[in-house]
Amino acid sequence: MSRFTVCSALRSQEVVAYNFPKCQRCSEHLVEETGADEGLTPLFLCKGAPENLIAEPGTLKWASAVKFKGKSGEILLLPDLEKPAGLSKVVIGVDDENDVWGSAAIAKLPAGAYRAHISTFGESTFRLFRSVALGFMLGHYCFSRYKKKKIPRSRESQDFEELTVREKARLVWPTSDASARAEVLALAQAIYLARDLITTPAEDLGPQHLAAEATALARAHQGASITVIEGEELLQQNYPAIHTVGRASSRQPLLIDLRWSPPAIAGDERGDLPLVCLVGKGVCFDTGGLDIKPASSMKLMKKDMGGAALLLALSHVIMDQALPVRLRLLIPAVENSISGNAFRPLDVLQTRAGITVENGNTDAEGRLILCDALTEAAADSPDLLVDAATLTGAARTALGSEIPAVFSSCDQLWSELQDAALEEGEMLWRLPLYKGYRKMLESKVADMASTGGEGSPGAIVAALFLQEFVKHVPRWLHIDTGAYNKSSKEGRPEGGEAQGLRALWAFLKRRYQKKVKEGSSKRV
Ligand code: BES
Ligand code: ZN
Ligand code: ZN
Repeated sequence: MSRFTVCSALRSQEVVAYNFPKCQRCSEHLVEETGADEGLTPLFLCKGAPENLIAEPGTLKWASAVKFKGKSGEILLLPDLEKPAGLSKVVIGVDDENDVWGSAAIAKLPAGAYRAHISTFGESTFRLFRSVALGFMLGHYCFSRYKKKKIPRSRESQDFEELTVREKARLVWPTSDASARAEVLALAQAIYLARDLITTPAEDLGPQHLAAEATALARAHQGASITVIEGEELLQQNYPAIHTVGRASSRQPLLIDLRWSPPAIAGDERGDLPLVCLVGKGVCFDTGGLDIKPASSMKLMKKDMGGAALLLALSHVIMDQALPVRLRLLIPAVENSISGNAFRPLDVLQTRAGITVENGNTDAEGRLILCDALTEAAADSPDLLVDAATLTGAARTALGSEIPAVFSSCDQLWSELQDAALEEGEMLWRLPLYKGYRKMLESKVADMASTGGEGSPGAIVAALFLQEFVKHVPRWLHIDTGAYNKSSKEGRPEGGEAQGLRALWAFLKRRYQKKVKEGSSKRV
């Protein structure tokens, strides 16, 4: 079998990856050190208060004269009196080492090249610089696929103009650590990718497009292979629930199965590496099905593949950074549509696990496609199983749009993830897999029901449903995420978001990095 087994629509070249090739654009903003100082504007960082300004006294005087407080995101521009409209230096305020969003403000800087001046690169200063670099790139993010003229001249301006790389603000990465630059770049690319995928409307991001993006990602990384099981073949290969949910759409349901192991590790040792399985909900559009959503709730449902986007993005970082694990990424991708052959409320679904499920609501489709993919992942005895899904409105009601809910059967695992999230300054919060609510999933006609009754705690019940399919997996994390910025903030424009990506990467690194080998798996 070839390393890339693709479905018919992809074979016939109808659908090509659009977003993955574009996610590299962030690297235009973070350039390598050349050694030459010519034309570089020095950039100073001010942590907390002007007294902590890492600069010479003259700058401090200027800062106090213009009442620069060094607050997160605050920018102080010092003119160069020799050059008309030139800058002699720039100071930006940041809260702490993790202040990615404060640093995003520097994307507003006039076009040109900037070099951070940090006298000593200790661990914490270095972390600070990494955050600044990531914020800088994310501050430049913009979804411009459907704009005739691509890049806004300034963030306030509605005036979109095609700018060349030379005209954009660029940040010079200090020579000392090229591998850390590669890691920041991989994170920025991943976040660009997830944002682009989620924000792309469903017409241009159906299951086949998602499969094309995953295929492009696999092709870009040595050691990766991919299989896509599409349409009727899902039934032949025993993924009945994925097929049932997706069959009403003119775009066939499918299951993406991407595998990777580090190419630099010898073949016989590769098999011993721990297996990390990722399972992402890929509902490319969620109408609710026959239990149709009202217009206001349906409007944003292009984002219902946010879990898949997050884990595709995370997979990019894992492969790029050659984490010493075996990776398996499963994405059931469907469109939850309405037509004569749509599945119905109270239909009884067959599942891969052999458990029959009475369908409480056709709008609770995510858990149904996930259960088949989770069954397959669990059968592979992973060291770690993570699923991510825009699964319930209830999780958003509980934690709002910015905080993903996390469920885990393993306290130790949650505590590791929480530590990593704190370290990254990202917010995730645990909700309980409370066994007392399990009886809400009892059914009179099938082995279990897919939903609890009226008034049941939706996020917890959905997580308990998924838990039935991963019973023998010792380490499982379920992430119920919103995957979307509801309004624009610095560095986070309204649209798709890879919520939790940095926390998940930091968590994986801490857990598996011990054996990280030098070098990246990226093909040249
Ligand atoms: N995709 C939605 C959940 C969702 C809604 C995520 C809004 C993010 C924002 C999911 O498929 C859904 O509709 N879930 C239902 C389940 C219910 C019918 C049991 C929900 O949460 O209301
Ligand atoms: Zn739904
Ligand atoms: Zn959904």
